[in-house]
Amino acid sequence: MTVVDDIKGRLDILEVISQHVPLQKSGRSYKANCPFHQEKTPSFHVFPDRQTWRCFGACASGGDVFSFVMRAENLEFGDALKRLSEQSGVPLPSREGRSRQQGLVEINESAREFFQKLLASNQGTEAREYLDRRGLSESAVESFELGFSPQDGEALKKHLVDKKHTVQDMAQAGLVHVNESGWARDLFRGRLMFPIRNSSGELTGFGGRALKNATPKYLNTPRTPAFDKGRMLYGLHLAKKEAHDKGLVVVEGYMDVIAAHQHGYSNVVASMGTALTEYQVDAIRRLTSKVTMALDADAAGQAATLRSLESSWRVFQTQEAGRSKGTTLYQQQAVLELRVAVLPAGKDPDDLIRDSSGQWSGLIENATPLLDYLLPTLAAQFDTSTPQGKTRLVEAMFPLIAAVPEATQQDQYFQVLATHLGVTQETLRATIGRPAPMRQSRGPRNRSQSGSQSQSRGATASPFAKLDRDPMEDYCLALLLQNSKLQSELQQELEAIKPEHFQRLENREIFSQLTREGSPGGIKLEDRSDSEIRIENGDRETIQAELLASSAPGAPVGNTWLDQELSEHLSELVSKPLPVMDHRSQLSALRDVIRRMEERHLRELKAEEEIRFTESPLDLQEEGHPGILEINERLRQNHKRRSSLAQDAPILP
Ligand code: UTP
Ligand code: MN
Repeated sequence: MTVVDDIKGRLDILEVISQHVPLQKSGRSYKANCPFHQEKTPSFHVFPDRQTWRCFGACASGGDVFSFVMRAENLEFGDALKRLSEQSGVPLPSREGRSRQQGLVEINESAREFFQKLLASNQGTEAREYLDRRGLSESAVESFELGFSPQDGEALKKHLVDKKHTVQDMAQAGLVHVNESGWARDLFRGRLMFPIRNSSGELTGFGGRALKNATPKYLNTPRTPAFDKGRMLYGLHLAKKEAHDKGLVVVEGYMDVIAAHQHGYSNVVASMGTALTEYQVDAIRRLTSKVTMALDADAAGQAATLRSLESSWRVFQTQEAGRSKGTTLYQQQAVLELRVAVLPAGKDPDDLIRDSSGQWSGLIENATPLLDYLLPTLAAQFDTSTPQGKTRLVEAMFPLIAAVPEATQQDQYFQVLATHLGVTQETLRATIGRPAPMRQSRGPRNRSQSGSQSQSRGATASPFAKLDRDPMEDYCLALLLQNSKLQSELQQELEAIKPEHFQRLENREIFSQLTREGSPGGIKLEDRSDSEIRIENGDRETIQAELLASSAPGAPVGNTWLDQELSEHLSELVSKPLPVMDHRSQLSALRDVIRRMEERHLRELKAEEEIRFTESPLDLQEEGHPGILEINERLRQNHKRRSSLAQDAPILP
């Protein structure tokens, strides 16, 4: 669900709002008379760093660029989306978009067939010999659909033209490269071809290996509407059957995956040479909570690898937090198992599996839990004989330890840290306190990060571009959607929660629809409090249909975004696996997540108040807005409620 992020990343809230209201710079924010109520002194502020707006006056509301446009132009969600999509130039995924993607998959299938035939033909002799030398079995070659691309640079193009594909489509699929004079030439020439399928098995791209020492060793399909290397895992469609029982093993290369599968390890996938991206982690996380990463001996000690492992750890934990765990409240939850296996020097999984299959399986079975690997490796980087070194070590380790969901385990790691520092646990706790629950970091919007269209999909994107979902919000909505009883019992709490507590637009919209009172849109969901019962397809469709029918009363039928993106997200929420909980636990889980969202919202408010206060302290003399003191008070209240809740039932991370 990147379209909203893409739009936000492309638009500057200042630009959009100043089309409606003349803004006046005031330090780090901009102010104006509020367009939503009558006033003489400006209490409407825009915060460009955060890409948010807020009225500190009578209407006491705020939000992002979407909520502004919806309000200022009195638009429903779908229409605001259309409007901002036009303004930002980010196209909404449409039926045409889908069918174009389908078209790319089809043309790739034609190419794959061609490559496979060529490998089996006379022209493929050299490539077949190469595969033999590397020990690939016939059945491995077949199940991974390996092929060979012709050397001449024209043959694929001609073949595809014969099959009635246009050169334009070929170029869009990345199969041909069009030079400046408009001449199209095959991209892959004389290479061993590895078709790459997504987790649903759609053929989205290719990797092509040079048979000799040409560079690059592997050439991959460039980014297309269907292919983005950073979002794919090679072999996932074949590995996912076993993922549930055995977890997944992540290696680097195409050949590693094929060797593993050939030798019976069919739960292996490849990150295709780069550090795992957040999207890849997300894809893994949907299938299993048990992941082993096979690391090159070379890479193992490198700072970049460490950084990437740390980030993976955080992402896994964040997602875990969204699923909510904590052993007291949610027994029998799949505990997250993230492990690292370091390969012997100079070997990659392919070598190891062929040399000694037993050594490989031993290595994977005895892989080290990530933190057990990470903590000593991190510790070795700092000089703990100096106070600075100690501080930096604590800074590096503490957040990782704080993210450990399970208390006893967390204590153990805390002890490890104390040992590295040469102090007792008690001293350490006295200095820095108990590990606090992990907080999601959603700092001020960083434009270069949120411009996900150009950034996160590019080949050089930061491996940890912002995740396009919000686990806490998803969890809240999933609980609500799947248990209608909670909705009526928590009337009071639900009133406390405002759509603007949801930072993700689609979540905010679903929540608004869900709680829209009295309107025909107010949704009565079937009771799902008995979460052992799997939601049947039929139910899910009913819920979706109800929600969709109720969204945007005036929305034209076939509103593309609502149809596709929102309903996809909705169906994920409706079928999101939740821990088996009794009713009481469900109540406290929901209460807790509501508090956490409220708290996050209050913190945002406070940050905005602080900016405003430092810029123009005089404004605080005005009446009718929640000042910092008031927000602090609300935070304190919220905290109190949370801790009393915590006594009631030990709570989520
Ligand atoms: P490796 O260099 O380890 O290749 O790159 P490999 O998979 O072991 O292949 P062989 O055994 O040499 O034939 C690991 C992965 O990194 C990506 C590919 O996905 C590769 O499988 N890669 C590597 C590229 O995309 N381009 C390159 O030029 C090199
Ligand atoms: Mn290799």
